[in-house]
Amino acid sequence: MTKRAVVIGVGHYLPERVVPNAEMEKIVDTTDEWIVARSGIERRHFAAEGEFTSDLAAKAGNAALADAGIAADEVDAIIVATSTADLTFPSAATMVQAKLGMTRGFAFDVQAVCAGFIFALSQANALILSGQANRVMVIGAETFSRLMDWTDRTTCVLFGDGAGALIIEARDAAGTPEDRGILACDLNSDGRHRELLYVDGGVSTGTVGHLRMEGKEVFRHAVEKLAATANAALDKAGLDAGAVDWIVPHQANIRIIQGTAKKMNLPMDNVVVTVQDHGNTSAASIPLALSVGRQRGQIKEGDLIVTEAIGGGLAWGAVVLRW
Ligand code: UT7
Repeated sequence: MTKRAVVIGVGHYLPERVVPNAEMEKIVDTTDEWIVARSGIERRHFAAEGEFTSDLAAKAGNAALADAGIAADEVDAIIVATSTADLTFPSAATMVQAKLGMTRGFAFDVQAVCAGFIFALSQANALILSGQANRVMVIGAETFSRLMDWTDRTTCVLFGDGAGALIIEARDAAGTPEDRGILACDLNSDGRHRELLYVDGGVSTGTVGHLRMEGKEVFRHAVEKLAATANAALDKAGLDAGAVDWIVPHQANIRIIQGTAKKMNLPMDNVVVTVQDHGNTSAASIPLALSVGRQRGQIKEGDLIVTEAIGGGLAWGAVVLRW
């Protein structure tokens, strides 16, 4: 008998304002055709003035609590994956803790940019397997619209705001690949690639900064590394790609998503795709896609899911779980 961290609730929140590509045409020299052809993005959501990452995160967290049918105080820990916390400190997670009315347990942020949710989920799994927590809420939440350089058409058309949340719980399990819950994680980073994707500001520079990206180079790394990390996680779980019901990838670019599925020999029918509606929401994109995939009736109990992401760092990884 062993323990597994099993998903008991999922939810998401998207800001009210929907921004179609036509609106981007008014800001920079771009076209709806270019954005759709190169990225698959048709629209994205932007947070309202005065609406912050912790607000989106708390709404997603409340949705996940409702889905699980539990109260905030029945959760032992909150981990928020974000690169766009409201303030330098305290963490977005402690703000979410207060907004949810949770008066016990502990909360902290994880920062691995677009791979943040994968890293946070892996840490939540470790807390559960080590007995430090019984139930953990893992949130990916971002307001990347606040990091955009609105004169740079190569980046500002790609990103959006949103939040998604999962609640995982310790359950007894047989210790086989047929168990429900998190079956394996694979985490990687390589700091030599800092220049490919970064924000040119921060606390030490005294500015918030703007996102800078060598899109073509990141694309090249993504196609190469995502299938490799997904297959490595499957290997650790004792499974192969043929067993996968759903790839739930980081939603940055439809061409990266298609390229990864092809490398894994899986058809696009087995991929949850939300990039057309959300754009790239960084750490929020995977929990958003999990929640939307559940709502659409794609993801069902017992399905084998592989999630994978890559982002600034570079940092990349994958988690294999049975829903
Ligand atoms: O979430 C973190 C991970 N991030 C990613 O995974 C992003 C990875 N990269 C990408 O998704 C793609 O590289 C992009 C969508 C960013 C760009 O697609 P691409 O096919 O690599 O295009 P490109 O950068 O090679 O640009 C092609 C052309 C260039 O013009 P020239 O030099 O061929 O004349 C660009 O100047 O498209 C031009 N261009 C644009 N045109 C219209 C760049 N941005 C735009 C734009 N509208 N918004």
